Amino acid sequence: MPAEAQTVLHTWCRQTEWNAPTIVGGAGARLLTADGRSILDMSSLAECSNLGHQHPRIVAAVRAQAARLCFVTSAWGAEPRARLAELLLEKSGFEGGRVYFTLGGADANEHAVKFSRQAGRKPLGWVITRERSYHGASYGAMALSGDARTAEQVDPTAHRVVHVPPPYAYRCPFQTHSADACGTAAADHIAAAIDARGPRQVAAVLMEPNAGTNGIVAPDTFWPALRRATRARDVCLIADEVMSAFGRCGEWFAWQRYGEEGRPDLMALAKGLTGAHLPLGAVVLSAPVARALEPQTLLTGLTYSGHPLSCAAGVAAIESYETEGLIARSRELGASMLRRLRDMQTRNPLIGDVRGGHGLFAVLELVRARDSREPLSPWPQLHVALKRLLSAALDAGVSFAARGNLILLAPPLIIGEHDVADALDLLERLLGSLAQTVRTENAS
Ligand SMILES: Cc1ncc(COP(=O)(O)O)c(C=O)c1O
Repeated sequence: MPAEAQTVLHTWCRQTEWNAPTIVGGAGARLLTADGRSILDMSSLAECSNLGHQHPRIVAAVRAQAARLCFVTSAWGAEPRARLAELLLEKSGFEGGRVYFTLGGADANEHAVKFSRQAGRKPLGWVITRERSYHGASYGAMALSGDARTAEQVDPTAHRVVHVPPPYAYRCPFQTHSADACGTAAADHIAAAIDARGPRQVAAVLMEPNAGTNGIVAPDTFWPALRRATRARDVCLIADEVMSAFGRCGEWFAWQRYGEEGRPDLMALAKGLTGAHLPLGAVVLSAPVARALEPQTLLTGLTYSGHPLSCAAGVAAIESYETEGLIARSRELGASMLRRLRDMQTRNPLIGDVRGGHGLFAVLELVRARDSREPLSPWPQLHVALKRLLSAALDAGVSFAARGNLILLAPPLIIGEHDVADALDLLERLLGSLAQTVRTENAS
């Protein structure tokens, strides 16, 4: 057992059960363990290592920046910070906007809320978010999240947060009969929630435009309808793009799938921003939000805001996505991965739903029987047989991620096509055995 099992508090697990291999290196889509094994990473760790592990351009950029200047606060200028802000505004087309740098995703979301309240002069304005969403684990972000794991730790109402049902087409909370109708009904429900409080009382709607760790992928009708509803009511729309940006959903930023019609007022970024080589988050503000804030004192701060080492990693990451054509590659590989998963679904009745695939992000939702859609286990529990599947995959050299009844596939965008094919073959074999186990359970 590794020494840190006794000394470190590890996230989202029971400490007594933590027993993971120590990783001593990485290359491309593979991680290297201390005992000499190579593991194919089919989840980009926490859906963050979009560029794979130890990307040479980023390692070189961090090394060069460390030799030149490790740190100055944002009271001073720093070249990589200036360059990264410029690149983010350019890639998102937020001309005349500004960027505020944070340390990760949770504080990016909290600051996006802070800025929308300050810019809209609604200091105690309500924020509307979704049930079953995840926006981070600090107190403000827990309030924004509709996450069953942390629901008892925080009172969303005290943070002026309201949760609404998600556009979860497979189990639509609005009892609609098509994915498109579910997306529209979810957006209409938010419009009604704003009207019920009065638009002057609502500062923002904060939601994921596409993928999130909850495995809900909004139907294409949702985001444009939400944008229309928020714009008509002069309520800021914040896109939590922490997971969905930087090619994960086939675009630089997932909202770009909808063109100008989908442009939010603010975006929260992290994860793929540096490909997780160093911690960094950002809030990108549109020009009108930036203009509203400029004459006011910005009443917030983070010692490490725009840390030069992290920003140098961010600049190198953006250059890599660009020069290696990774956004388009993700779109193409994502489409073929989706086809392969749909094909797998025809042979395995446990696979209730397959969704995503706009980029290298797809979700399998597992059920006891396809017709009844009865969940494999009650959300958010992980069925013991699924736990065994993950561990058998690891023994075979592949790391898959699961949450509840969902298998989340989100490999690094640089992964080889043969590696994806081999990993999916393995997954199909293991899901075949899982179906056998469930058949026996159903029969007894
Ligand atoms: C959509 C989304 N928002 C926010 C976060 C929180 O980011 P961080 O862990 O960097 O605080 C996550 C992390 O998984 C996420 O997936």
